[in-house]
Amino acid sequence: MISQAMQDTFNKQINEELFSAYLYVSMANYFEHTSLKGFAHWMRLQSEEELAHTRRFVTYLNDRGGRVVLDAIAAPQIEWDSPLAAFEAAYEHECHISACINAMVTQSVEEKDHASHAFLEWFVTEQVEEEANADDIVQQLKLMDGAPGGIFMMDRELAQRSASADPAPAE
Ligand code: FEO
Repeated sequence: MISQAMQDTFNKQINEELFSAYLYVSMANYFEHTSLKGFAHWMRLQSEEELAHTRRFVTYLNDRGGRVVLDAIAAPQIEWDSPLAAFEAAYEHECHISACINAMVTQSVEEKDHASHAFLEWFVTEQVEEEANADDIVQQLKLMDGAPGGIFMMDRELAQRSASADPAPAE
């Protein structure tokens, strides 16, 4: 059975993952509004990944005899100054999520909760990819320096993103 303190931390992270999904839906709509369909597609898939992350946490907490307690999800920002500003915000958000996961790992070690420690390993690795994916796009947008030709080329490229090959386990 999971400790109350660890259960509280998992519930907090479930809220973080749901907010992540919400944030990326908001970014997808920002891109739809600016007619960048490929960027919007990329963000919609990112939002779906966040829902898959949420399901992993929910399934784990239930499996450990914990109680999932859903809290209100904060309203996300809806406007950004440019595609670069949106992806910089996405990158910063992923760094925040990595810090949350790292703090959970530390807590699991302190509590000698080996099951949570093992479970969280997947997320430690996943966050390396999450940060890298957003940062790659930030760096490419910086190189383009707002040139419309580059943005439209990138829009076509981001439209090719396909769903993750590593879906979350069923609840
Ligand atoms: Fe669930 Fe993008 O981290």
